[in-house]
Amino acid sequence: MAATAHGSGVETLRWRDARLEMIDQRVLPAEIVYRDYDSAAGVAEGIRSMVVRGAPAIGCAAAYGVALEALRLAGGPRAQFDSGMEAAFRVLARSRPTAVNLFWALERMRSVVQSMSAAPAPGIAARLLAEAHETLAEDIRNNRAMGAHGAALIKDGTTVLTHCNAGALATAGYGTALGVIRSAVESGKRISVIADETRPFLQGARLTAWELAQDGIPVTLITDNMAGHLMKQGEIQAVVVGADRVAANADVANKIGTYMVAVLARRHDIPFYVACPISTIDANVPNGDAIPIEERDGAEVTGYQGVRWAPEGIKVRNPAFDVTPAELVSALITERGVIAAPDRAKIAALLKSAATRANWK
Ligand code: MRU
Repeated sequence: MAATAHGSGVETLRWRDARLEMIDQRVLPAEIVYRDYDSAAGVAEGIRSMVVRGAPAIGCAAAYGVALEALRLAGGPRAQFDSGMEAAFRVLARSRPTAVNLFWALERMRSVVQSMSAAPAPGIAARLLAEAHETLAEDIRNNRAMGAHGAALIKDGTTVLTHCNAGALATAGYGTALGVIRSAVESGKRISVIADETRPFLQGARLTAWELAQDGIPVTLITDNMAGHLMKQGEIQAVVVGADRVAANADVANKIGTYMVAVLARRHDIPFYVACPISTIDANVPNGDAIPIEERDGAEVTGYQGVRWAPEGIKVRNPAFDVTPAELVSALITERGVIAAPDRAKIAALLKSAATRANWK
């Protein structure tokens, strides 16, 4: 698939005919289908049911959800617009709990609404749509910057293990962890990728394997429980993953199974890198214990797409994320550079410098 402005052939979200279109990630790679959305409630359902997933992509979808609702209500009475917008923020905030990019995007959109409270509703709606477009464009710029910083850490000839999908499909384009890999490949390095299948939703098997194959990047699929064996055999030289929320002390919440990979990487002296935009850092949570972990429907564990393999009535746990302690993270890769051995002081300094630069704009 040809590379585009999005950094790969796939457009995760796109604006068409005054609607948001999102590629349905539940049916990839068997089917390439776009679903279209015209309301906040619709987008919230798309996030909840994982038509769209991946922290930065969820943030972009939520921004469009707010804009769509404003456009939908802008022609009606002002009181209805104001209460409808409050309901839109509420329904979107309830869609998924762990990826902080969702709440970051909602706050960004809310500050637009607040700064224009005296303006006519159609003007607010137009401004919100422009902000949603900018959120998407900024995400791709950030991913490219992150890729360039992170690529320097990956030597020629490296086999990289990645978990879940932190690629173009998890973002507005290019990807975070897969952006680092793409950037290393673009710089001429020979890189191959081991993709964990990522039970139970199979983001690695269905999405990462497909996305990298489309780009012609060598990728080999394994089941999650094969990672330790391959590390022990010396077949993996680096791990790069994304993040859903990074706490103030640099603990990292990411897809369930990431913690297991990080422990294995430390055991085998393999660097464990986390690539994420600064919007994934949540200064309000002091450490990983305070990050809300989504618990999803047990049906994702007992079977898949109508096939059931577990006994009826069996007790199931399905936490969708886990927390990797900061001490296991070799470096955090952001759009502003690489932070080796991240900790509370380094995160505070990064956020301070990011805020200062944002004020200069
Ligand atoms: O449940 P998902 O598929 O939304 O989980 C996604 C992940 O855990 C990703 O690794 C994370 O959001 C980073 S995406 C750039």
